[in-house]
Amino acid sequence: MVNLAQKIDLNGAVLYGEALDRAAQEALVADLREIVRQAPLYAPETPRGQKMSVRMTAAGQFGWVTDRRGYRYEARHPAGMAWPAIPESLLGIWRAVAPEARLPECALLNFYGEGARMGLHQDKDEADFSQPVVSVSLGDAGLFRIGGTERGGKTASHWLSSGALLVLGGTARLAYHGVDKIRFGSSSLLPAGGRINVTMRVVS
Ligand code: SIN
Ligand code: FE2
Repeated sequence: MVNLAQKIDLNGAVLYGEALDRAAQEALVADLREIVRQAPLYAPETPRGQKMSVRMTAAGQFGWVTDRRGYRYEARHPAGMAWPAIPESLLGIWRAVAPEARLPECALLNFYGEGARMGLHQDKDEADFSQPVVSVSLGDAGLFRIGGTERGGKTASHWLSSGALLVLGGTARLAYHGVDKIRFGSSSLLPAGGRINVTMRVVS
């Protein structure tokens, strides 16, 4: 199910390469399509009013959102519907890599089309930093960059390919991270190309 054999340390974050086989990736994509059907992807705006290049939606009790009012978690999609439940396929991944942790309350889904990227940031809108953030990458490879807990520090880069899992926990929980670019069309998982990243978080 989840293969944790290919383990790499990335500045304290743990990367599991090829953790999900093709069948597991396809099953996950089907579950994510159902989430998107109920709670459509939308293009969020930063608090400064810039449209982000990734499109987002979420599952769980809370979804992370951003708009002119700032970064925060909300119990509803900006269009008004409740977020769908986090599917068992994602919860199984969480349990496999973070067995001691509380269960996630948010699975944030980011879709990267051609040219999309995400600037360096910390995940710090959650209440309990003792709980990890677990990321799942599907589709086209993304060039992930990770540094330390200070802005402007040294960073390292690594391609996250389809089926990779990444755990931001312990000393790396508040590490700066981002995605510089994707290698559009590098994976056959999503017929129209693009990259999906799901990050699961304990919010409260
Ligand atoms: C994120 O930090 O929210 C996304 C990271 C990724 O796309 O790998
Ligand atoms: Fe993040």
